[in-house]
Amino acid sequence: MTQKIKAAHPLEKRVVLAGFDEPNSWTLPVYEKQGGYKAAKKAVGMAPDDLINEVKNSGLRGLGGAGFPTGVKWGFIPKNPTKPVYLVCNADEGEPGTFKDRQIMEHLPHRLIEGMICAASAIRSETAYIYIRGEFRLSIERVEQAIEEAYKAGYLGKNIFSSGRNLDITVHNGAGAYICGEETGLIESLEGDRGQPRLKPPFPAISGAFGGPTIVNNVETLSQVPGIINNGAEWFMKLGGGTARTAGTRLASVSGDVLRPGFYEVPVGMPLNVLLNDICGGPLPGRKFKACYPGGSSSPVLKTEDFDVPMDFDSVAAKGSMLGSGATIVVDDSRSMVELTMRTARFYAHESCGQCVPCREGTNWVYSQTERLLHGNGSKKDIDNIVSACNNMAGKTICVLSDACAMPVTSIIKKFREEFEVLAKSDDQVEKALPRVSGQMGALLKAIRDRQQ
Ligand SMILES: Cc1cc2nc3c(=O)[nH]c(=O)nc-3n(C[C@H](O)[C@H](O)[C@H](O)COP(=O)(O)O)c2cc1C
Ligand code: SF4
Repeated sequence: MTQKIKAAHPLEKRVVLAGFDEPNSWTLPVYEKQGGYKAAKKAVGMAPDDLINEVKNSGLRGLGGAGFPTGVKWGFIPKNPTKPVYLVCNADEGEPGTFKDRQIMEHLPHRLIEGMICAASAIRSETAYIYIRGEFRLSIERVEQAIEEAYKAGYLGKNIFSSGRNLDITVHNGAGAYICGEETGLIESLEGDRGQPRLKPPFPAISGAFGGPTIVNNVETLSQVPGIINNGAEWFMKLGGGTARTAGTRLASVSGDVLRPGFYEVPVGMPLNVLLNDICGGPLPGRKFKACYPGGSSSPVLKTEDFDVPMDFDSVAAKGSMLGSGATIVVDDSRSMVELTMRTARFYAHESCGQCVPCREGTNWVYSQTERLLHGNGSKKDIDNIVSACNNMAGKTICVLSDACAMPVTSIIKKFREEFEVLAKSDDQVEKALPRVSGQMGALLKAIRDRQQ
């Protein structure tokens, strides 16, 4: 089911979502009526380096999570590659709290295709993929329909826009694993293998899909490109705060304990409390905000005193968190932070691909220890053990899923330790903390423990 279409809030600035509320906005005639595919026509006639420079100068940064400057990333593609160059659109959208890419694919799939034509021209790619989370049935349907329309119009295929350039786009359905959103896990899955991240380097720009130089970009990142090509880098910068740090707009997915949750397109640099109070209507009646994850469930939480932070990558990083995929999960004073920690850890334990010990064991350890505390079976020492486990999980694995669990957990314990301590028994009141192990190994550990007593 698609979400109900709402008119824009006066504080919103719709650029990627322009035309979102038009009837049949996902069809080619409606998109073209609003000036659609002008940027693609222009891009195929431009020199690749000029395209890259325009995007570099605009300040556009990757909106999938890491915030890497898009033009700079495109510039890493070798100028004279010996293998085909691939463009891959990451439409896995697995980060809890994030629900923005889906809106673009369901309502404005042609903007994404147009962005991909521009990006492919910049990196000299003739083959592109859109890797869409399998559960997003409507997104898949609408994107496939839009690709078919674009082929018929001569915007995809051979000699597009009679420019001499070629571009094929294929939709690949994912199977719904969070780790397949990590770019190298995604590439593995695209190639037909198990979605397990690869060691980097080599980075995908040098050796990615099928061994060829590859750019992986998020749906929203690519959908921002037509605006930049049509209107120029300076226009894009001025949409936000007018500096490279605050360039453009971005989609905010807001969920949790807030009056009007939803997705909103706002200028980069808008203070978080303006988004939460003015656009989203503030807390639920009789409640107070307590904290939020500002960039999806993998971001360290912010307390309310930090809600004045401008929503740009650098300002949120200066507060010790990250803007990630732009998903704000709001927590009010009715919530237990221990339960929230347990749920966060449970998600990452379930989604770990299992290649790295600190991640595979650490996420499960954090989950089981937090669950013990939540059920009144944990001690104060367990709180320190969780922090210690997290310290051994961050920065030590093939990909950052392990960090994605450790970062929010350590931030919650640091900022809300009293909630954990209230639930903890004194150390001599609880049985020795053992990891939750089942099967033969569990029986063995139990036997050892019984013998020790
Ligand atoms: C565990 C994990 C999951 C990720 N999931 C997504 C995702 O669902 N969508 C996405 O665009 N990026 C995701 N990323 C980030 C991608 O690896 C990659 O940085 C991004 O697609 C690059 O696009 P961008 O430069 O346009 O942001 C994930 C990263 C990690 C470590
Ligand atoms: S950190 Fe976790 S998810 Fe990432 S490769 Fe290692 S085990 Fe897999």
